[in-house]
Order: sequence, then C-alpha cells, then structure tokens
Amino acid sequence: GNLDLLIDECDSFDIKINSRNKAKSLGIPVLMEGSDRGTIDIERFDLEPNRPVLHGMVEHLDMSKYKSLTTMDERIPYITAVTGVETLSTRMKASAVEIMATISTWPQLASAVIYGGGITADLSRKILLGNLNISGRFFIDMDELISDPVEDAKPTTTSIATTLLTTKEIEEFIHNNRLAFEDSTYHLPENILNNIIAAANKAPSGGNNQPWRWHYQNGLLHLFLEQNVAKAYLDPQYISSYISLGTAIENLVLAAAVHNIKANYQVTPQFAPNHIAWFSFAANYAATAQEENLAKQIDLRHTNRKITPRQEIDSTGLDNLTALASQIDGAKLKWVTNPEMIKAVGAIATQTDLLRMFIPEAHEDFITREMRWDLDEVNNTEDGIGIHTLDLSNNDLIGIRLLKDKKMIGFLQQINGGSGFKRLSMMQFMASSAIGLITMPKGEISSFINGGIAAEKLWLGATSLELQIHPINVPLLFFYKNSIENSLPIPEELKGQLKQAENNFNQIFGLTDDEQAIFMFRIFKATPSPERTIRKSISKTFSIGRA
Ligand SMILES: Cc1cc2nc3c(=O)[nH]c(=O)nc-3n(C[C@H](O)[C@H](O)[C@H](O)COP(=O)(O)O)c2cc1C
Repeated sequence: GNLDLLIDECDSFDIKINSRNKAKSLGIPVLMEGSDRGTIDIERFDLEPNRPVLHGMVEHLDMSKYKSLTTMDERIPYITAVTGVETLSTRMKASAVEIMATISTWPQLASAVIYGGGITADLSRKILLGNLNISGRFFIDMDELISDPVEDAKPTTTSIATTLLTTKEIEEFIHNNRLAFEDSTYHLPENILNNIIAAANKAPSGGNNQPWRWHYQNGLLHLFLEQNVAKAYLDPQYISSYISLGTAIENLVLAAAVHNIKANYQVTPQFAPNHIAWFSFAANYAATAQEENLAKQIDLRHTNRKITPRQEIDSTGLDNLTALASQIDGAKLKWVTNPEMIKAVGAIATQTDLLRMFIPEAHEDFITREMRWDLDEVNNTEDGIGIHTLDLSNNDLIGIRLLKDKKMIGFLQQINGGSGFKRLSMMQFMASSAIGLITMPKGEISSFINGGIAAEKLWLGATSLELQIHPINVPLLFFYKNSIENSLPIPEELKGQLKQAENNFNQIFGLTDDEQAIFMFRIFKATPSPERTIRKSISKTFSIGRA
C-alpha cells in the first residue's frame, strides 16, 4: 500500500523535488523540518492534489537541468529557492558569510536536530490522526520565542530627503550672483542643448547618485550640485559628488565638440556646494581627433565589476591613459602593476569594506541609498545601483542580499567575523591588470571637480582601448573621513589602524603630503558588462530659464 506520510530529511535537492512529485502523484502528504529557525513545511497532497510542490517556490526553475550542474554556484539558485535567503536566521546568515572563510560547511547543531525530530513526531501524530489539515511553511523559531531582552537598536541618523532644487531657487541664485557670469550673445539650439545634457547625464557617479542639476539661461548653462541627493555617508563634504560633477562636465564638453560647438567652462568653487560651474558656447568649432574619439565612448563607458583571469596590459596602453588624465592641470595618474602590491592595496580596501558594513550609518546608506534590490526599485528611483548590474556570481548575489540584515551584520561584528566579505573584493583586486590612482593638489574643492574631469578622460580613453574600469573609492573616502574630518564613530584603536592603512596606501602609490588621492580604480581586460545602470529622466535634472 501507499505511505501514509512522507517525512523528508534528505539534503539532496533533486531527491527533495523528485520525491515530492512522486508523493503528489500518489496523494501522500509530505512533512519536512529544517533546523534553521525550526522551519516546518507541510504539503497536503492527499487533501490538495493540485498543490504545487514546495508551495510553488521552485516552479520557476528548470529541474531537468539540475543533475547536470556541477558547481555550487550553479546549484545555489535552486537551493536558495527552497531555503529562502532573507528568511534565514541571523546566525545562519552569518554562517553563510563565514563558509569557506572561517568555517568549512553549514553548521547544524545536535540540539536543534533533536528538537526538530520532536516537532516532526508531534506534527506527524496530528496529521495521521486527522487533527491537522493545513499546508504551508511555518517557523517555530526558538530565538524569536524565547530570548533575552535587547536594547532597541539606535535609530540611524540618515533620512533621505527628497526636496530638490527648484527652478525658482536656481534663478534667484543666478540673479543674485549675476556679476560672476559673463554675458553671452550665442544661444544654443534647444535640440543640441538636450543632446549634450543627455550625454553629460550618462557620466558615472558614486553610488549612481547623479548629483547634477543643469539650468540654461541667457545663453549660459549652469551646473548646480543637487545637494539633497549628495548627502551620503561616504560623500564627506560632497567630495565624491564633486568628482562626479567633473565627469559630467567632461562628457558635456565632448558632446558639444562633436556638435561643432565649443563649450567653455568655468569652475566656481567659491559658490560650492551650490553652484559648481558655468558654460558659454561658441559655434563653428571643429572637434579634435581626441574629442571625436572620446565622445564616441560616452555611450559605451560603464563600470565593470567582473572577475576574469588576470592579464597584463602593456605599458604603452597605461602610458596613453596617463597622458590623457595629465591633460588636466595638477592631475597625476599613478599605477600599481606588481601583483604583490596590488594585493597590498586590496587588503587595505577590504579593511574599509568591513568598516562600511560595521558602521551603522554607512551600512544604512549602502542598503537604502546606493543599492537597488529589484527592477521596480531601480525604475521608481531612477538612481542607485541595481543588484543585477553588479556582475556577481550566484553565490555573491546571495552574499550581497544577506548584507541587508542589520542584525546579522551586528552579530558578525560581535564575533569578529565578516572575512567572507573580503573574499569578493580581494578576488576583484587580484584579477586586475593594474590599480590606478588619480591625484590632485590637496585642499581645494576644485581639485575634486577637475579630478573628476581627468577621471572621465581616462575612463573614456580606457573604453576606447577596450579596457574595463571599476572605481574603488571607498578606501579614499574613509581616509578622508578619518584624517581630514575626524568624523568616524569607531574606537581610537580602529582609527589608528585606518591611519596606518592610509600611510601604507600613500607609500605604495608614492603620494606626497600635498597630493590628494581623488579616484582609485582597477583596470583589466574582459568583455563589457551586459547590464547598465539607470539614469534620471532629463526633466528631473534640467531646466531652461527666462531669457
Ligand atoms: C567618484 C566615483 C566613485 C565611485 N566609487 C565606486 C566604488 O567605490 N565602488 C564601485 O563599485 N563603483 C564605484 N563607482 C562607480 C559607480 O557606482 C558607477 O559609476 C555608477 O553606478 C554608474 O554606473 P556606470 O559607471 O556603469 O554608468 C564610482 C564612480 C564615481 C564617479
């Protein structure tokens, strides 16, 4: 005769599915207990013959492929469809991060297994006696039911303001400071204006915050900083946004040039953080070969975070890029190509990656301001970095989703964990042909803006050489917050360690006291990244004023 009840205690994913399909065809109920959070699954195929197996959680997967999958990375989407990711316990999430770093496999506690056995026996009795008919997934989470009282986590200070600059405020600013701007007799045709601003808006920005606000009036184009989108924890004194505005300036000038328009610009650090630059235009300009070439790359340029086997880049390639960046007054481009040195820079970067996770404000910013966890979020906000654009393996995609859990991050910090997170960054560093660093003279706001212009020249130049760029500016921003702002909420000992890391970094790149590190990136050979980040619609970032 048939079984009365199938109790699933097997680890193998395909057996789980196959046995359920069989049980379903024979109308046998299935009971499963997973020891994490006391997860109970009841599937009453005897009462609901059409019920999808595993509550429909695996319906989107092609099970016929599973047997042929050889790596954990290929299998993980199947496994996590059953285990869930966000619903795992805090400790299981922390374990997932530590697997292959400080622990070798999934932990399973004997006490939890015995407890699960007891629950299974009790539920079996109820099902078999006809006292329980429900199907579904349930949690008997001991940690939630019985736990020591905890102090409420401190509310984080970040609140994302949404008030944007109004055209009226902009016009008032321009009017009040009109003596600072020259008159222009030449007026740009509106279609060209729209084209060059669209090109400017394709520029890169830290966290894809797109901090630009353009306004055209009296023949002049003004660039403002949209301060309310630029208040990220890792945007101290707007320095990251200033760099991004520089990248947009470069795109604008190039796009104008290929429309035979000369865009002359003046940077206005005296008006920072409000007004950043203004542009006047002249017609009948013949673009240089360099401008033609770089302008062609604007649509192709993107951040590539792939990990591919390391390949050397010949020194002429790097020299060309150095020459490009150095066209900006004061800009220097330094390279680290020796793998041992690249590793040393990588180790510094992983140190600041952990700080980013363990400082609550920084973590909050990362998960709410910077990351976009699904396409709806991407399309609603039109900013930030969609998780699908990160070029991550399935494993690392799960890893990054785990990062959302503040409790898990707190637990990792408590156990001095998190080394699993270092792995991804370190692999990215070790896959790089070289690490580059743009520096500018220290102490000037204009250094960040002009440094951004140099960065975009370099990035477009690299794109034309089919070289991939991945900026890694987090360490620089932590150095700034530690040494210049002295604003990090971390123990003195950690501040000291960070200062030491900064000194090592300066030594590796040969930085002098009067040099400011502006833009660090890794450069490598790979195919382009298939997915692109979103941009705000032009109406949010551009207005035309009264003539
Ligand atoms: C100033 C600056 C700093 C950046 N820092 C980082 C970084 O630390 N890590 C990273 O992965 N990407 C970094 N980026 C890349 C941005 O996330 C990226 O430019 C943005 O999401 C837009 O995507 P796109 O470059 O593909 O157009 C940085 C970009 C800029 C301009």
